[in-house]
Amino acid sequence: MCGIVGYVGSKDASSIVLEGLKKLEYRGYDSAGIATVNGDLAIRRAEGKLVNLENRLREAPLDGHLAIGHTRWATHGAPIERNAHPHADEARVIAVVQNGIVENFMALRAQLQQEGHTFVSDTDTEVITHLIDKYLAQGDGLVEACRRAFRQLHGAHAIAVVSKQEPDKIVTVRLGNAGGVIVGLGQDENYLASDIPAILDHTQQVVYLEDKEMAVITAGQVNFYRLDGQPLRKETHQITWDPISAVKGQYRHFMQKEIYEQPQSIQSTIRGRVDFTSGQVHLEHLSLTPAEAKAIERIVIVACGTSAYAGQVGKFMLEKLAQVHVSVDYASEFRYRDPLLDDKTVVLAITQSGETADTLASMEEGQRKGAKLWSIVNAHGSMAHRISDGVILMQAGPEIGVASTKAFTATLTDLFLLGMYLGQQRGVLGAEESFELATALAHLPELAGETLVEGYNDYQTLAKLYHHCEHFLFLGRGLNYPIALEGALKLKEISYIHAEGYPAGEMKHGPIALIDDNMPVVCIATQDHVYDKMISQIEQVRARKGIVIALINEGDNEVAAKADHVLKIPTAHPLLTPVLSVIPLQLLAYHTAIWRGADVDQPRNLAKSVTVE
Ligand code: F6R
Repeated sequence: MCGIVGYVGSKDASSIVLEGLKKLEYRGYDSAGIATVNGDLAIRRAEGKLVNLENRLREAPLDGHLAIGHTRWATHGAPIERNAHPHADEARVIAVVQNGIVENFMALRAQLQQEGHTFVSDTDTEVITHLIDKYLAQGDGLVEACRRAFRQLHGAHAIAVVSKQEPDKIVTVRLGNAGGVIVGLGQDENYLASDIPAILDHTQQVVYLEDKEMAVITAGQVNFYRLDGQPLRKETHQITWDPISAVKGQYRHFMQKEIYEQPQSIQSTIRGRVDFTSGQVHLEHLSLTPAEAKAIERIVIVACGTSAYAGQVGKFMLEKLAQVHVSVDYASEFRYRDPLLDDKTVVLAITQSGETADTLASMEEGQRKGAKLWSIVNAHGSMAHRISDGVILMQAGPEIGVASTKAFTATLTDLFLLGMYLGQQRGVLGAEESFELATALAHLPELAGETLVEGYNDYQTLAKLYHHCEHFLFLGRGLNYPIALEGALKLKEISYIHAEGYPAGEMKHGPIALIDDNMPVVCIATQDHVYDKMISQIEQVRARKGIVIALINEGDNEVAAKADHVLKIPTAHPLLTPVLSVIPLQLLAYHTAIWRGADVDQPRNLAKSVTVE
């Protein structure tokens, strides 16, 4: 959840690291800090957002050509400067940054205190500093001292260490699944980061560290080792992301930019995967023979948050298009419930970041029990990508806004493609139906674009009228139920309004008690097979004087006449309608949050990559 950046070369290291941290601030923004080695070890840290560290650096700049930096999402210890990374030893020889949790830190801390070490922070990370310090005092060089310290840590970590006694190098390690450690390769300069956007302006050549792998990074070379000291040869990957896609451009917020990018990201998702003359789908990293496709008895989707809601829509798509049983589990529940799995089951993980701890643990559970492992992942090269037997790489580009938007619609599009592919391989979809589905898909980017045209829906009026409300209800049925969940999640996470998504038919079994003339109820009532049922539920809300905001297909005067307000979408294939219906809900949440003065890109308490349990 925290972000780490490192640089060694001939340029001003602290400014490169600061710029990199800005691209990782989505991972945490409780405090930030940078350490440079330039003869001496110098550290600047500041509580709160990165801008505070930037101001501090303006008052007291850091010189030097080697630096590590950190942006924190607090786990152990309050988000105050004393607990900000980097953490130095008492003699200020070394500095350490960490992403993850040292699960045995209490025992290590007690032992180190007994040995005479004085702790100045409440963090678990500080034990790493003192452990390395202890081994340096015993005569080890930096790399060996780090190795001995790392081997004592329980839990999952990404760590970077610098020392003024060995001022040319950064030592880094990945232990378990605490988020990525990416080494960026340059010309007489090298980089280190938790995620690609941090270094994308400088290099597109990267090496991913796996569990229990270390790198020793100097300006001229990078050496890789296993934790036991064995040298390693690592493959270099070329990143294809465009550096421009990781900047805000003309938009006020990343979330806004990413909402408006959806026609393009949906287009990129489809590009090259569908033959529009035959309707045949091809997925580059998931090739199955018809026999293999027919042998699949069950698909178990595992994911968290928005990705789990995408999975719930995916269940409808896969069951309809491929005639295969699908269940959807929250990864945090799945991993602990001893699920029944076998080699005829596919565990399909959905994850934007490819780093979510619960999702990765569920994948490992699937692997252990002999299931096939597939994933839909946006972060190319991430852990989820690398451990999968088959993968669909989202083509959404980097998603920086903490609230997921374009990754959701890209996932829905990928799930539709997967449904078509499996349906074709399993002999469920014939030529005519494949052609119709492909044609429907071809229109999708344009329809998403229409939904986003200026003035198509009046979000300002709605946000102005209802931003002061403390509760919202979102109702949907069938495919629109997960969209109701997603609409509610978007609103609560960026505007802090309590919002609940509910299957509309269940409303009368309880939540109806909440409805009064102060309760906006967003009713998703697109024209599908449960449209009439949804109209009855709108009537029930109206009868209790609830404020009805109906999400309808353009031209639906019947529901429009019953609603206080409408949000409309163009008509699409029923299975693709959720890709459109979520867009007005993203924008409703966005504008409401703006009216409430909330920080849209960095909502309180949240982080983009949830690499801890
Ligand atoms: C909500 C949101 C989260 C993520 C969830 C899973 O806007 O972003 O609910 O969807 O933390 O993250 P990934 O997809 O990276 O596994």
